[in-house]
Amino acid sequence: MKAYRILTISGDGIGPEVTAGGKAVLEAVARKYTLDFQFEEALLGHVAIEATGNPLPDETLEKAQNSDAILFGAIGHPKYDNDPSLKVRPEQGLLKIRKELGLYTNIRPIKLFDELIGASSLKPEILKGSDILFFRELTGGVYFGQPRERSADGETAFDTMIYSKSEVRRIAHKAFQAAQKRRKILHSVDKANVLASSRLWRETVTEVAQDYPDVKVRHTFVDAASMMLIKNPKQFDVVLTGNLFGDILTDEASQIAGSMGMLASASVGDKTGIYEPIHGSAPDIAGKNLANPLASILSVALMLEIAFDLKEPANQVIKAVEKTLKAGWRTTDIADKSTESDKILGTKEMGTLVAEML
Ligand code: IPM
Ligand code: MG
Repeated sequence: MKAYRILTISGDGIGPEVTAGGKAVLEAVARKYTLDFQFEEALLGHVAIEATGNPLPDETLEKAQNSDAILFGAIGHPKYDNDPSLKVRPEQGLLKIRKELGLYTNIRPIKLFDELIGASSLKPEILKGSDILFFRELTGGVYFGQPRERSADGETAFDTMIYSKSEVRRIAHKAFQAAQKRRKILHSVDKANVLASSRLWRETVTEVAQDYPDVKVRHTFVDAASMMLIKNPKQFDVVLTGNLFGDILTDEASQIAGSMGMLASASVGDKTGIYEPIHGSAPDIAGKNLANPLASILSVALMLEIAFDLKEPANQVIKAVEKTLKAGWRTTDIADKSTESDKILGTKEMGTLVAEML
């Protein structure tokens, strides 16, 4: 039997709680389909700094390189957020592992489960039928551009927003290929009216578009895109954008899916991919059994499909989530405030229930 080596990196804050849900579902998948999933664990982020002084210990990177897929939890700790002078920071671990593994494509599906239409603060008629696939560039842009420094007198600081044509080209091809299998509309989001890197982005996307004449391209400025997302999300199908804009727009778009707690993502490149919820470590609710594990569970579905090509098990995981929601079970973040009929579960119970549904 083929063995699948899965590395779990649960990270900080609510990471361990939500990742436990994802892992419970993976174990259920292994039982149902008689698959051999072999698990290992590794440290990243604040917990890694505490244990080793390094947000991405060598051992973690080595385990990552030797695995077939990585299930990641969350990263971040208030200690660093409130002390900008700290040089070693949890987020550096996540950025470095993305870079080391060459994960330049971050795929973030925004799909509203019908059952959650009342959980969003947006109007149901605006939301119904929304289905967007974000392609966020993940190893370039202002997140990685050099130099990034504080001036000698401490009075200024700078970051460098830089893209090369080859970086834009490779993710653009992925986004266009996805668009061909969907509604054949691609919004490329930039700020070409102000930024040189965005003008290069736009020019390169226009060149790549020649290879996909069946896909309609709409170049959109990021400020307008952020407005259009909330005004009429159904006009979007595939959205292609850079690292920073993608980070911001997908948090916004999570409201179309009801909650940040619902959004899964796949960070992929040429080697092992990381499957990760888009949410952060949520220190305010960490350890309280309040977090929503469905983003981790839906990340598992992406792993099964993309990393292992196990389409049917992946679909069954999504069905199990759907069934759980249909039966009225909710974590607090997705409870419909206007009804009393939702049945509220903790993180652990929600994970167990989805695994049972499967
Ligand atoms: C995300 C997160 C990360 C990012 C942080 C934790 C570094 O916000 O995955 O969206 O900005 O990429
Ligand atoms: Mg983010």
